[in-house]
Amino acid sequence: MRIILRPVEDTDLPIFFAQHQDADALWMAAFTPPDPTDEAALVAHWSRLMREPTIIYRTILAGDQVAGSLVFFEMFDQKQVGYWLGRAFWGKGVATQALRLFLAELPERPLYGRTAFDNLGSQRVLQKCGFRLVARETGYANARKAEIGEYVFRLD
Ligand SMILES: CC(C)(COP(=O)(O)OP(=O)(O)OC[C@H]1O[C@@H](n2cnc3c(N)ncnc32)[C@H](O)[C@@H]1OP(=O)(O)O)[C@@H](O)C(=O)NCCC(=O)NCCS
Repeated sequence: MRIILRPVEDTDLPIFFAQHQDADALWMAAFTPPDPTDEAALVAHWSRLMREPTIIYRTILAGDQVAGSLVFFEMFDQKQVGYWLGRAFWGKGVATQALRLFLAELPERPLYGRTAFDNLGSQRVLQKCGFRLVARETGYANARKAEIGEYVFRLD
C-alpha cells in the first residue's frame, strides 16, 4: 500500500474523530483526552495543532484513504512524536512506514515516544524505527481510569 504524509486538512478531522471512538484503540493508547466522545473539544484541539507553528501535524494517506495521523510536539522539555491509525489500517505495516517517513522530515534529535506499558504494537513501531526504551514512568491514564506504567522511548 502506498503511504504518503501530507499536512492535516479540516476535512480530515471528522475522520480522525471516528478513528478515536474505537474502544480497543482508546485502551491501547490509554493516555487519551478525558472525554474522547466530546467531538467539539477534540476538533478544537486538533484545529489548534494544525495552526500552531511549533507543532508538525500530518495526515497519513494509505492509497487515497485517510489512515490516521502523526504529530510532533514538545512536552516535558522533550521533543515527542505520537500517532493514531484507524482500526481498518492496523497490522499492515502502515504505522511503521508512516513513522519512517515522518522521521525523515524531522531533523530534531533526540526524539521521544511514550506508550502505555502494555501497548506492544506502539512499542514495536518505535523499536522498528530505531527508538530504544530509556525509562519507565507512571501516569494517570484517562482511558483506564488508573495510574499505569508508561514507557519512554528515545531516538538519538
Ligand atoms: C499502535 C498502532 C499505531 C500500530 O499500528 P500498525 O500499523 O498496526 O503497526 P505496524 O503494522 O506498522 O506494526 C509494527 C509492528 O508492531 C506489531 N504489532 C502491531 N500491533 C500489535 C499488537 N496489538 N500487539 C503486538 N504487536 C503488534 C506488528 O506485528 C509489527 O511487528 P513485526 O514487524 O515485528 O511483526 C495502531 O494499532 C494504533 O493506532 N493503535 C491505537 C492508537 C495508539 O495506540 N497509538 C499509539 C499511542 S502511544
